[in-house]
Amino acid sequence: MLDWDHNAYYHRLLLRHLPPGPQRVLDVGCGSGAFAAELARRATWVDGLDRSPEMIGEAARRDLGNVTWTLGDVLTDPLPGKDYDAIFSICALHHMPLREVLPVLAAALRPGGVLAAISLPRRDLLRELPVELAAAAGQRALGAVFLTRRLLNGGGGFAKDAAHAAMPMVLNPPLTTREVAREAAALLPGARVRRLVFWRYLLTWEKPAG
Ligand SMILES: C[S@@+](CC[C@H](N)C(=O)[O-])C[C@H]1O[C@@H](n2cnc3c(N)ncnc32)[C@H](O)[C@@H]1O
Repeated sequence: MLDWDHNAYYHRLLLRHLPPGPQRVLDVGCGSGAFAAELARRATWVDGLDRSPEMIGEAARRDLGNVTWTLGDVLTDPLPGKDYDAIFSICALHHMPLREVLPVLAAALRPGGVLAAISLPRRDLLRELPVELAAAAGQRALGAVFLTRRLLNGGGGFAKDAAHAAMPMVLNPPLTTREVAREAAALLPGARVRRLVFWRYLLTWEKPAG
C-alpha cells in the first residue's frame, strides 16, 4: 500500500532537461510508455524504443498521434531516428554496458542535443550511507503522503501502473554511482552524474555544438 513508483517520481526532474521547442526526442527502454506519453505533450515527435515485445505491446495501447513505438535493442538495431533534440532513458542503462550504449546515444543526438537518463546504481553503502538512510525514511514518509493523495483523488500519487509487474528488471546493477561517473566522463567529456535520493543516479550530457 505504501509502495510507489520511483521512476514516475523522477519524470518531472527529467522533463526539466528538455530543450526548448523540441522537435524529435527518443525514450530508450520506454517500457509501457508512461514517460514517452509525457514527452508527447511537449515535443512534436517522440520515439519510444524497447526490446521487450510485452512492453511495446502495452505502450502501443496508448492512443498517441505523435509517438512511434519501436521494438528493438538500442545496442544492435538501428534507432528509429537521428539528430534527436533530446534522448531520455529511465532505468534501462543499467541493463547494458555503458561503454556500448553511451556512444550510440551520443551519435544519435544533434549538436547541442541533450541526454538525460536515470538508472539504478549498485549499492555503495560506504560512500552513500547518509543518502541511503534518507531514502529509507523518505520512502515511508512519502508513501503515506502519496497513499493519502490516491485515496482522496482516486488516482495519481505515483501509483505503479498495471504493466509494472511484467517489466523486465535487473536487480543487481553492475556499477556504483561513482563508477558510472568515471565511465561517463571517459566516454562523454562534460557528462554529469549524481546520486538521487530514491535509489537512482542521474546522468546528463549536452552534445557539443559543431
Ligand atoms: C526497468 S524497465 C523501465 C521501463 C520504463 N523506462 C519505466 O520507467 O517504466 C527497463 C526497460 O528497458 C528495456 N531495455 C533493457 N535493455 C534494452 C535494450 N538494450 N534496448 C532496448 N530496451 C531495453 C527493458 O525491456 C525494459 O522495458
